[in-house]
This record gives sequence, C-alpha cells and structure tokens, in this order.
Amino acid sequence: MSRPNLQIALDHSDLPSAIEAAAYVGEIVDIIEVGTILCLQAGAEAIRCIRALYPEKKIVADTKCADAGGTVAQNCQAAGADWMTVICCATLPTMKAAAEKVQEVQVELYGDWTFEQAEQWLAAGISQAIYHQSRDALLAGETWGTKDLAKVKRLIEMGFKVSVTGGLSVETLELFKELEVFTFIAGRGITAASDPKKAAQAFQAEIKRIWG
Ligand code: 5RP
Repeated sequence: MSRPNLQIALDHSDLPSAIEAAAYVGEIVDIIEVGTILCLQAGAEAIRCIRALYPEKKIVADTKCADAGGTVAQNCQAAGADWMTVICCATLPTMKAAAEKVQEVQVELYGDWTFEQAEQWLAAGISQAIYHQSRDALLAGETWGTKDLAKVKRLIEMGFKVSVTGGLSVETLELFKELEVFTFIAGRGITAASDPKKAAQAFQAEIKRIWG
C-alpha cells in the first residue's frame, strides 16, 4: 500500500492568519489547501500568496464549486492552484468544464450522493473524491466509524483516489489502516493545536507508522 499524503486545510477567515499557519507547517505537509472559508474571504489573492511561498507544493483551491466550473477553475489555475474541488451535486458539465482548466478536480462528497453518480464522475475522467464529515455534522454529534470505512473502501475499489477529511486527529488515522487512503486532510487538528508544527509532525509520524 502506498503511504497517504498529508494535506493542511487553511480555513482561516483572513489571509495573514492563514499565511502564519502555513509558515509553521508548509514544509512538513505534502499538499496545501486554500480552504473554503479562506477562498470566500480572500480568494485568488490567497492562492497567489500560498503559491508564491510554496512554489514546489501541490496546492488545492477548496472552492466546492457548484456552477461555472470552467471560469472558476480558470481563475484558480491562473492564481496558482493545481487542483480544485467541486461539490458532488454539481452537474457533470460543471465538473468536466472545471477538469479542462486545472490539473485535477476533486469531488467533495457531502449529503446525498450515489455510487451510480460516482461511476459517471469516473467515466468523465474525474478520479479524485473527498470523503467528508462536515463540520456541522460533527458539531451535531456525528463521529467517524465503520459506516464510513465501507464507503471509502468501495470508492477506492472503484478506482478513485480518496481523500478523507473532517475533524481528523492523529488518533482517527488508525481507523483507516486497512485502506489505501490517498490523502488525509487536516485543518483544526493542526492549525488549532498549541504547537501546529509538532501537530503536523505527529500526523506524518502516525501516517508513516501505519502505512510505512
Ligand atoms: C470544511 C473543509 C475543511 O477544510 C476540512 O474538513 C478540514 O477541516 P477540519 O480538519 O478542521 O475539520 O473542507 O468544509
């Protein structure tokens, strides 16, 4: 099994705070995400700054795009993003239009979606999916468990590169030890830690311990 990547989600409400967080962990993580909250607040400027600071890193714009896929993707790409996210209820034309402008599109799985839709995303050439426990679901008491593993496993078996996210902690990772997860995306588990650098190192150490 290949070792999962670690992605930091910069979900800050202002760009200086996001840059400060990135400075602690940018060299430790594999992928840097300009999170949805930051995209809504600082958009292309945030992507441009993170690209300028980390020219060699993979950068994701977590736009959760629902429409105008081609235009949004063109703007993200021009600002320096490699990948961008689209929401799973977006139409196939939106996803395909986005996929033409950025290196890769990731489908964010929230709420109701079906494996039949997932087959269509694959057929359209979109092979990244993000399995998500939303902040609001977690706040409402949802937890990670075996129900999630079955879905993640099936998506991987279908051929998706599956990222996992939502309130992850170092302790959560072990739950996925049998699975070839593509990327673990952590936000507050790193950025809200008293020592974000140590927290990112602990995530990486646990990933290495489990996946080698
Ligand atoms: C929210 C997101 C977050 O970036 C992602 O879930 C990571 O955040 P956290 O680890 O803080 O839950 O996509 O929509």
